[in-house]
Amino acid sequence: MAALHQLRDEELHVEDVPLSAVAQRFGTPTFVYSRAALSASYREFEGAFKSALATTSASYVGTGTQVTNGLADTRAPLICYAVKANPNIAILNLFARLGSGFDIVSVGELARVVAAGGDVSKVVFSGVGKSVDELRTALQAGIGCFNIESTAELHRLERVAAGHGAVAPISIRVNPDVNPNTHPYITTGLTENKFGVAREVALDLYRKARACAHLRIVGIDCHIGSQITEIGPYTDALARVLELVDQLADEGIALEHLDLGGGLGIRYRDESPPSIDAYAQALARVYGARPQRLMFEPGRILVGNAGLLLARIEYLKPGPVKNFAIVDAAMNDLMRPALYDAYHAVLPVKPRLGTSMLYDVVGPICESGDWLARSRSLVVEEGDLLAIDSAGAYGMSMSSNYNTRPRAAEVMIDGDRMFEIRARERVAQLFEGESLLP
Ligand code: LLP
Repeated sequence: MAALHQLRDEELHVEDVPLSAVAQRFGTPTFVYSRAALSASYREFEGAFKSALATTSASYVGTGTQVTNGLADTRAPLICYAVKANPNIAILNLFARLGSGFDIVSVGELARVVAAGGDVSKVVFSGVGKSVDELRTALQAGIGCFNIESTAELHRLERVAAGHGAVAPISIRVNPDVNPNTHPYITTGLTENKFGVAREVALDLYRKARACAHLRIVGIDCHIGSQITEIGPYTDALARVLELVDQLADEGIALEHLDLGGGLGIRYRDESPPSIDAYAQALARVYGARPQRLMFEPGRILVGNAGLLLARIEYLKPGPVKNFAIVDAAMNDLMRPALYDAYHAVLPVKPRLGTSMLYDVVGPICESGDWLARSRSLVVEEGDLLAIDSAGAYGMSMSSNYNTRPRAAEVMIDGDRMFEIRARERVAQLFEGESLLP
């Protein structure tokens, strides 16, 4: 993936724009993304699978599968970008223009895909708690596939589809019970997790679905977790899913696609996640030459290292035990450190010479958990700009208004141009839906 930033003329730049120019024009805190980095990561992901599958599936090239919906029109892998990682419509639009489909988990995300000009027939709908309204809205919109996560959901969708005289395309989300060795909060493929159904249950659900007049079986789905830095859990999960695919085939249930979810990790600090190529090749080897189309739901790997959070130091507060650099960004802007103890690199926008000190980089929020980085060696002064790195995924999307803090602005850099893709919130917006008692 193209590097997001580089030091040029003693200042950090994203593409050709110095970060101080972003701060001057849009203020801070601001999320800054690179169009080139976003496009490069998408193309890298797509290219890796195209070439990995070309070597293992030569026998299928050119045969294609029957065209039945937006997911099945070619054997090329389909990327369904996981909207939750970063749902800004400019980013969705960028991926849509590159041919991406989308993985959504709410009709709110579906509305964003539509607003961004995404192809609804290339949307898959994941999530354990889809409401009747959500099922109906997504069905009427013509989405590509519902990833069913329980028996109750299967029955609910059948009823909703019958009520509309429609046929809903479905996959069953299988929980393969593999341990992805990531943070427990973002593990999803273990039996103890709420996601998907066990393989035995899946078999039963497929049989039930086959008997439902208003459901059409199109695929199978699995997503085992997030920020995964090993290949083994993926190949294990795929092998388990393939066993099920074979069992289904024996029963005459043919699938058009296999959705292997997302979760590939990125480097925040010193992790060494597999390259996208290695991941693609390992999966392609296990997959072999099967007729189904492969689908993926990558989020973080496409956007995580294509964005940073730009913040300004308000105060330096030295102390007997710790020194604090208090910045104008906080846990409401980037929740990952507080929630997962996550590491994000902190880079001064204009590095200074001098003696470094150890700082905790913290925000103005009234919680001791409001920290962005701990024990970082920095040479900084009040008023300096800091780039909090790798903030493109699950930064803005998990932000809140805690402490009545307006959400940050979002700016896309494209060469030497800057585009405000989301204006900074105004305080008045934050309580506009509230009312006084009579
Ligand atoms: N598909 C499904 C069904 C998912 O639940 C997720 C993420 C993805 C795809 C995309 O996963 P990715 O490729 O981005 O790892 N807030 C956490 C991450 C939560 C991930 C939730 N599901 C964090 O900041 O690390």
